[in-house]
Amino acid sequence: MSRSISGFSKLTKSEKIDWIVTNYLSNSSIAKETISQYFNEDLKLQQLHDEFIENTISNYYLPFGVAPNFLINGKTYAIPMAIEESSVVAAASKAAKFWMTRGGFKTEVISTTKIGQVHFIYTGDFETLNQFFNAVKPQLIADTKPMTKNMEKRGGGILDIELRNKTKDIKGYYQLHATFETLDAMGANFINSCLEQFAKTFKAEAEKALDSPIEIIMSILSNYVPDCPVRAEVSCKIEDLKDKNIAAETFAKKFVQAVSIAEVEPYRAVTHNKGIMNGIDAVVLATGNDFRAIEAGVHAYASRNGKYTSLTHAKIENGVFTFRIEIPLALGTVGGLTNLHPLVKIALDILGKPSAKELMQIVAVAGLAQNFAALRSLTTTGIQEGHMKMHLMNILNQFEATKNEKEVIVNHFKTNTVTHSAVVSEIEKLRR
Ligand code: HMG
Repeated sequence: MSRSISGFSKLTKSEKIDWIVTNYLSNSSIAKETISQYFNEDLKLQQLHDEFIENTISNYYLPFGVAPNFLINGKTYAIPMAIEESSVVAAASKAAKFWMTRGGFKTEVISTTKIGQVHFIYTGDFETLNQFFNAVKPQLIADTKPMTKNMEKRGGGILDIELRNKTKDIKGYYQLHATFETLDAMGANFINSCLEQFAKTFKAEAEKALDSPIEIIMSILSNYVPDCPVRAEVSCKIEDLKDKNIAAETFAKKFVQAVSIAEVEPYRAVTHNKGIMNGIDAVVLATGNDFRAIEAGVHAYASRNGKYTSLTHAKIENGVFTFRIEIPLALGTVGGLTNLHPLVKIALDILGKPSAKELMQIVAVAGLAQNFAALRSLTTTGIQEGHMKMHLMNILNQFEATKNEKEVIVNHFKTNTVTHSAVVSEIEKLRR
């Protein structure tokens, strides 16, 4: 048995499975069966999935659900969500249904500017560098024409390039800080290609014009996109917030306080924002976007004033309750997985083939709705009641409950509180 290997990437898929099973898994026949159970019978589809990443040995499915009844700027959407956590889709659906009869969600894209940087070291005189940069800037842009011409035809492209002096932070450190409009594409490949060309031209021209050399460290887009923010909001008269568990005014006040706590207390803000990301990530994943980029950018935005804080805000003014979110979202509806993954295509079709701007608004709404549902539960019944109701089936499946056992137990918990131990004790009672 050997736990390391050279040339693993060159093995066939079945050789890779054999090697992993032999060297890392104790019950090889069950392991092999489980891995192969997730293969797709449609060989073309399987090959597509195999080729999304490297060293593929199987598929890892996530449930694909739909939250209906989202009224956004007067248009009704059913929002596709890919997520493993129970109660998220139910919570989004419940919030959507609630706001549907109270004017729905109002949204606005504030800006869609994206950023990329060439990081370099130069230890010569700053004024000389600055003059050189201003002289070479038109050429930096001209040399990227082969890659920008199609984007420009559609109305996007490079917006600007600045020279940024970061020598206070690191000796000799400067940036070419570039801004881009990438329209319906998330734009990572476009931005990175432009940046690498800037770096090439910049270095080559510097060698001719400057006494001190330029050392390019790296060229890469930034997933921090504070200039790509979208806003979503719901509002209604306080009396319209009536809920079966609590009076409207008490609910509104508790809700606003819950948000205020997340605004000032980072321990709470992280969990509060995690709930928002339940909605955001699920739609980002379903629509084939990069949820790691979104997560990193959103959390950086939540700390932009030096302290991690809530992404949502709530207020009561003149008897009106308002709840809103503002977050940066660099999303695409063309390119990447959006043209490749068959379920992503379905997700985008369900949303009516949105532009990137429209998708930004839908995703922000999913985050706001999710936060509304979680806070409503937290400030009224507590989170466990609804969450555990939805999680019941997972517990039953853990215990391999039969169809009949499931029926009896689901019926029992219609009138009893679901907790893990209560479910276990009901299963044991039934099986005794
Ligand atoms: P309920 O009042 O028991 O639901 O809520 P209901 O049976 O009265 O149904 C009302 C509507 O809810 C339904 O309308 C659906 O829209 C939806 P209908 O379809 O009947 O016209 N709904 C469902 N949708 C799909 N499948 C279902 C389903 N059940 C209801 N099975 C509910 C139950 C779970 C929705 C509610 O208790 C809730 O919103 N809870 C919050 C759950 C939540 O936030 N989950 C996220 C995971 S917890 C977490 O990780 C985040 C957290 O830590 C964040 C934070 O701290 O801020 C909490």
